[in-house]
Amino acid sequence: MLETLDTERIYGRIATSDDEGSIRLVLEENLTVLQLLESKVDVARDARRIADNDDLPPGGKKENSYHYLLFARSNNEVAGILSCYLGYPEKEVFYVGGLFLRPRWQGIGLGKEIVSRVEDLLNNNIVKQIRLGVGLKNWSALRFWTGLGFDTITKIKGDSEFGVNQFAAVELLKRIG
Ligand SMILES: CC(C)(COP(=O)(O)OP(=O)(O)OC[C@H]1O[C@@H](n2cnc3c(N)ncnc32)[C@H](O)[C@@H]1OP(=O)(O)O)[C@@H](O)C(=O)NCCC(=O)NCCS
Repeated sequence: MLETLDTERIYGRIATSDDEGSIRLVLEENLTVLQLLESKVDVARDARRIADNDDLPPGGKKENSYHYLLFARSNNEVAGILSCYLGYPEKEVFYVGGLFLRPRWQGIGLGKEIVSRVEDLLNNNIVKQIRLGVGLKNWSALRFWTGLGFDTITKIKGDSEFGVNQFAAVELLKRIG
């Protein structure tokens, strides 16, 4: 992966600890979605972990973890964040930890543009799959990801019982290359 992530309408750069406030803003504006994954969301903690690159998968290394802060080219406004990890749970897997756009930047094709660029960047012999987790109650995002070809379920994780205050997420996979 690269230090920057450029598309037609978005530019992204690796987030630093100075970006904690911007990351927090993106997460706060997506609170409803975050609450579909767990009952007690701590946006301040999550923003700090992302900014400090401490949000790693089990056994993960910082050098394989990428958190991009995304900006709109049209007005340089913070548009969202993209978190990903190269090599989890296996060497040839690229894991998208999260793609969060601020509401005013959603629904105009930017998500599709960003994912398409990531796929181009990963078009090498090493990465064979992209995986991601999405909340089972987040049907908008399920529509988005399945529409982009993430059509294989690798696992369903979360509460074993089902109910209004129970949570589960599905891991989706797309083969590339
Ligand atoms: C999910 C998300 C990343 C999608 O990005 P986006 O820029 O809004 O989506 P796009 O405008 O690129 O849409 C791409 C496709 O997905 C579909 N789509 C996107 N949002 C949708 C929605 N809410 N309902 C139905 N379809 C949707 C679009 O119709 C489009 O399909 P098309 O190419 O056939 O027209 C963005 O809406 C977002 O950040 N949502 C809140 C956070 C979240 O849920 N993130 C995912 C968790 S990992």
